[in-house]
Amino acid sequence: MNKRERFLDYKRRVFSCKDCSLWETRTNVVVGDGNIDAKIVFVGEGPGENEDLQGRPFVGRAGKLLEEVLLENGLTRDEVWITNIIRCRAMIREEGSVRNRPPRPQEVQSCKKWLEEELSIVKPKVIVCLGGPSAEVIIHRGFKMTEERGRCFRSLYAPIAIATYHPAYVLRQPGRAFDELRWMLSEDIAEARRRAESLQEEETEEKVIIPPPDEGGEQLNLF
Ligand code: URA
Repeated sequence: MNKRERFLDYKRRVFSCKDCSLWETRTNVVVGDGNIDAKIVFVGEGPGENEDLQGRPFVGRAGKLLEEVLLENGLTRDEVWITNIIRCRAMIREEGSVRNRPPRPQEVQSCKKWLEEELSIVKPKVIVCLGGPSAEVIIHRGFKMTEERGRCFRSLYAPIAIATYHPAYVLRQPGRAFDELRWMLSEDIAEARRRAESLQEEETEEKVIIPPPDEGGEQLNLF
């Protein structure tokens, strides 16, 4: 099976997943989208209200900010892959209203196989973790965003993983803090892009075999 066929097969199975209780309240299962051959994958936390309704990751305000910072770095969402650690909206009903809540450890755990399957299909060079919960899954447990953001780690899922602030967290910052965190988010994406490009160049160089002079291709005998 090629990548596209594998992804279709994956979608068919994940759409009927009932491995945790989030299936009871979901409208849609939200799987990753973008370019299946992407060198960079972004991993957020989980679908919110808009994502649950539209069945696509990062389509609300956080998604708009993510698209803006991608563009600043010469990227569109059609060139990267965007996904989440969980595929169904985690929500809480309170006094007649519904709001998002962070995923529970057991929800993250039961969705991990789906995330791993997506990553094994796309096979990115670089993963950008959006927010601490994503970095805990992809990089290491107990990840400290203030100390470790923007650093390059080796991950089980890609040669390089970098974590940065979640766009929704950036949007909640007041005044100057918003500008600062937005700038860091954009800088971390710039670093991810540079790393992906240099890994790609290394790979291309490895594939070009230059024969040593004395073993060069046979000299054409013109006379
Ligand atoms: N926040 C996330 O972490 N993921 C989405 O898909 C949307 C908002």
